[in-house]
Amino acid sequence: MSINISILGTGRIAEFGYIPAIKQIDDVKIVSVLSRDADRGREFANNHSIPNSYTDINELLNDEELDAVIICTPDAKHEEQVIKSCKAGKHILCEKPMSTDVNSCIRMIEEIKKNKIIFGMAYNNRFNAGLRYIKDTISNNSLGDVYYARAILSTQQNDPKGWRALGDQSNFWAMSATGTHMIDAFRWFFGEPTEVKATTISPKFKSINDELTSLVLNFEDNLICEITASAIIPKANRIEIYSNKDIIIGENVFGIKTDESIFHNGDRVMIKPISSFFGEVVDFTNAILKKQSPRSTFLDGLRNVEIMVKSRD
Ligand SMILES: NC(=O)c1ccc[n+]([C@@H]2O[C@H](COP(=O)([O-])OP(=O)(O)OC[C@H]3O[C@@H](n4cnc5c(N)ncnc54)[C@H](OP(=O)(O)O)[C@@H]3O)[C@@H](O)[C@H]2O)c1
Repeated sequence: MSINISILGTGRIAEFGYIPAIKQIDDVKIVSVLSRDADRGREFANNHSIPNSYTDINELLNDEELDAVIICTPDAKHEEQVIKSCKAGKHILCEKPMSTDVNSCIRMIEEIKKNKIIFGMAYNNRFNAGLRYIKDTISNNSLGDVYYARAILSTQQNDPKGWRALGDQSNFWAMSATGTHMIDAFRWFFGEPTEVKATTISPKFKSINDELTSLVLNFEDNLICEITASAIIPKANRIEIYSNKDIIIGENVFGIKTDESIFHNGDRVMIKPISSFFGEVVDFTNAILKKQSPRSTFLDGLRNVEIMVKSRD
């Protein structure tokens, strides 16, 4: 059985994350795209051999052959698009962060549950081979007691006139672009933090949103994880895990590219990188076909936004 998908938004993640990934999957077809601008939508559709483009989400959702949408629009658009898609009975893969505040996530979850929608939170990095290695090593207890971990990720989307910086389409900049991925990785590895402390600065562009955030997660006084999310320092993309006996260092472990490397106690680990977006869409469409939960759910979306919001308190 084939799954028909619509992409909402024509930006970076739609074009460079999802389109190439979906082209590699036999039974998944992109049947339409949503753009605010009819010409841009048509051009995007033509460039990627997508049959239909719409400027009105209601018309797009009216398509009875449509099974699911992938939401690739700014954070503040997610709630409205999720709720409309739920009401139309379409399954949803929603880009991170789930929304801009906790109450918005709760309203989305009510509709997801009411309409029995399969909802995937698009934490694509859970499908990156390097982070998967770390997850497996922690899950099979071969690391011993992990006491300390840290991650740093700096985005290159550092346009001070972009929607992340201006504050009307997102409540966060660095935390939305990168911090949310690192929170997700540590929640995935270690569960829920029991304490969250953060400090935030916006020294370069004086943005209303965070240009650089440093976040400390405490897990029951047994483990500390530090996160550095940035929109203003040069490219950095690294994770480090320290236990009572082991050290794992991962380079380039987050993102679209598949060039990560993992060193376990100094030895390079042989991993086979895959496109995380490919893995994520396969997982999501399997969840639809098998009526099961995707790897990352609306609860992951909600808990993550709860932590993001605390980073601003
Ligand atoms: N998983 C990841 O690694 C990852 C990476 C980057 C981004 N993201 C997430 O994906 C979503 C989209 O991010 P992106 O980097 O693709 O952003 P982007 O390049 O700015 O694209 C967003 C698209 O949304 C549409 N849109 C609708 N209303 C808009 C508005 N008021 N302002 C700007 N664009 C609007 C636009 O398409 P039209 O102009 O055609 O309407 C635009 O091209 C965000 O939630 C972001 O956090 C995830």
